[in-house]
Amino acid sequence: MKASVKMLFLESSLELVPRELHREPDVIRSARRYEIPPARLILDKSLHYKAMRGLERKWKRGRPDIIHICLLLATDTPLTRMGVLEVYFHVLDGRVFKVRSDTRLPRHLERFKGVMADLLISDSVPVGSPDPLIFKVSDSLEEFVAREGKLILLWEKGEPRRPEEVVEEAIEENAIIGIGAFPRGDFEETTLRLAYKRYAIAGGHPLAAWSVTSRLLCELERRLGI
Ligand SMILES: C[S@@+](CC[C@H](N)C(=O)[O-])C[C@H]1O[C@@H](n2cnc3c(N)ncnc32)[C@H](O)[C@@H]1O
Repeated sequence: MKASVKMLFLESSLELVPRELHREPDVIRSARRYEIPPARLILDKSLHYKAMRGLERKWKRGRPDIIHICLLLATDTPLTRMGVLEVYFHVLDGRVFKVRSDTRLPRHLERFKGVMADLLISDSVPVGSPDPLIFKVSDSLEEFVAREGKLILLWEKGEPRRPEEVVEEAIEENAIIGIGAFPRGDFEETTLRLAYKRYAIAGGHPLAAWSVTSRLLCELERRLGI
């Protein structure tokens, strides 16, 4: 049987601007600049920094660039195009989305944000397509993990492992590889509890999500002889 691996980006820092911020000057300014109503804007710390000052857990929010880079890396590998790697991402409201293997994501962040706004509003893109490229597969992480398999969490405070060992176990156990796609702070307790293994690479040194992603992708390609 052909080996396959699932990669899941967790707690991705991706959301629409919350309704309570729609009247903030930062938000009105960016809505005018992009000619988009505030309800269709993606929260972006680089544009909405002042508006975000009172937001709960603001250190984890407003960084759509992180999931953008991670998805570009994970979809730009032969592994994905050959159907060996399945790519998913979870957002802070709990939904989990799948990125189809033939998806060509926008390279430019602003265009990516536009597509993501459509996705968060409509649950699939292109909106209204009977055969969407990115679509919701679950309303909750708990349900997704229960259905799709065991979760190995990449976690700075986990047990030390080499990337090749993480990849080997994911293949052997048909486990999902989970990587946080948020800028700061830790996973929620509810996420940590869903993992059956939590592993640290690079001696637990805190790495950016895209660095962890690229290390694991390289190991996967090596392990699968690609
Ligand atoms: C930028 S980190 C999250 C924020 C980080 N805790 C901080 O406060 O700087 C993004 C994700 O990369 C993964 N990660 C980063 N360094 C790691 C390491 N040394 N071992 C395993 N996973 C790591 C984790 O999944 C983490 O959630």
